[in-house]
Amino acid sequence: MKIKNICCIGAGYVGGPSMAVIALKCPHLQVNVVDINQKRINDWNHEDLNELPIYEPGLDQIISKCRGKNLHFSTDIEGKIAKADMIFISVNTPTKIDGHGAGQAIDLKWVDASARKISEFAVGETIVVEKSTLPVKTAQTIKEILESSRINQKPKKVFHVLSNPEFLAEGTAINDLINPDRVLIGGSNQEAIKALTDIYSFWLDNSKIITTNLWSAELSKLIANAFLAQRVSSINSVTAICEATESSIKDVSLAIGKDKRIGEYFLNPGPGFGGSCFKKDILNLVYICNHYGLYEVSEYWQQIIKINDWQKRRITKLITNKLYGTLSGKSIGIFGFSFKANTNDTRESPAISISLELLKEGAFLRIYDPKVNSSQIENELNKSNWEYCEDIYDASTGTDAIVILTEAEEFRNINWLRVSQKMRAPSWIFDTKGLSNTQEAKEFNINIWTVGEC
Ligand code: NAD
Ligand code: UGA
Repeated sequence: MKIKNICCIGAGYVGGPSMAVIALKCPHLQVNVVDINQKRINDWNHEDLNELPIYEPGLDQIISKCRGKNLHFSTDIEGKIAKADMIFISVNTPTKIDGHGAGQAIDLKWVDASARKISEFAVGETIVVEKSTLPVKTAQTIKEILESSRINQKPKKVFHVLSNPEFLAEGTAINDLINPDRVLIGGSNQEAIKALTDIYSFWLDNSKIITTNLWSAELSKLIANAFLAQRVSSINSVTAICEATESSIKDVSLAIGKDKRIGEYFLNPGPGFGGSCFKKDILNLVYICNHYGLYEVSEYWQQIIKINDWQKRRITKLITNKLYGTLSGKSIGIFGFSFKANTNDTRESPAISISLELLKEGAFLRIYDPKVNSSQIENELNKSNWEYCEDIYDASTGTDAIVILTEAEEFRNINWLRVSQKMRAPSWIFDTKGLSNTQEAKEFNINIWTVGEC
């Protein structure tokens, strides 16, 4: 199968960067990214690269190189599907809010709508690639929808479905796409698998490409995220043990991480994991386990989310206690609102629930994030009693405490003298990320609480 024209349905955090990298590495391919959201497409086409809808280091350079040449963003979903030899489905797959399975199962309505469009408008032989993270066995559903249009069609439409889950992390997406640990392709049609493998082979060694059946590929994505989230909950549970026993989470992480069987990554403590995927993918895993009657397994994975919620609550309680049991009339600086550094994504950010709890306790918040704008914070909090600040010094002004919630580079280089002059005594820093430079603030009479340390 010769691939010349690719379409990707969904111009989000995955569709945009992943297609940009394919366009960069495969100049012989025409790559069309389509979306129902006109504003998102307008932003992808914005002349000013600072206005792209998502921030990822290095993304703007690729966009400026490929856009308008072999990379195109549009809302012409039907037209671009009709032209494509290969179509990626990269739409959102959030947790269902209502109906059967609400609160756990994945809402497949956007996947269903995409499959229906493909079924109707694709021409000839088309490879359909699941890029979204999906419940195991969704490929079967997609196949059935795709094939529903084949009756009475002339010439006959032929579809091959592959699963090619994405493992990029936000903030490092471009590097993750260019140098992935592996690429996973699940499917049964060898020619279709080869066609997708050939695309990745333009920049990756074949040893990095793992091929499996469809179900293993779909399940592996859910399990990879569950394992990563499990490590974050594990280390966060240990922060509380360290604080109770005068041990140091830094020392413990180093000591255990040196063991190759454990490994050094994903051992950083924090205010709990955020992001659009860990929670919804584990909830989905829990739902799948229950569906198959695997109740003990389901409970095991559910515990990862319980610890995550507990860590966020533990931190807000601790802040209130340290600030003499009341936040009424107190002002608190929030450093970092995205779910991690180097992204403007605030979905499921620990900063949201922590800020809401602090507001409930009566605090006024001064919020600063290097990448997140005021209206995004407004949408997430939907509450008053906070102010958007232009930088860390603005966010420190008149505050009783500062809560550091992400590991943004500029939080590692804070001028504590300047901050101390802006704050009200007695002043506190709550460092939920364990950044090494916060200890310097002690010199300026600021009290410091660091996660996992005494
Ligand atoms: P997103 O919400 O940023 O983007 C999804 C886009 O799909 C939206 O712009 C939406 O308008 C569009 N869309 C929805 N239905 C459509 C339709 N019928 N036709 C055209 N466009 C449609 O989501 P995302 O973060 O890019 O995630 C997409 C998928 O990738 C999810 O399944 C997610 O679990 C998975 N994933 C995400 C990440 C990540 O870091 N964000 C990493 C790996 C995998
Ligand atoms: C995660 C996975 O790392 C990706 O492989 C996956 O593709 C993606 O989810 C997805 O499916 O959406 P992402 O959520 O973008 O990527 O970012 P991570 O770096 O994994 O961080 C997730 C959360 O865990 C963040 O809130 C981060 O601050 C937290 N974290 C991470 C820690 O608290 N400690 C760590 O050591 C690592």
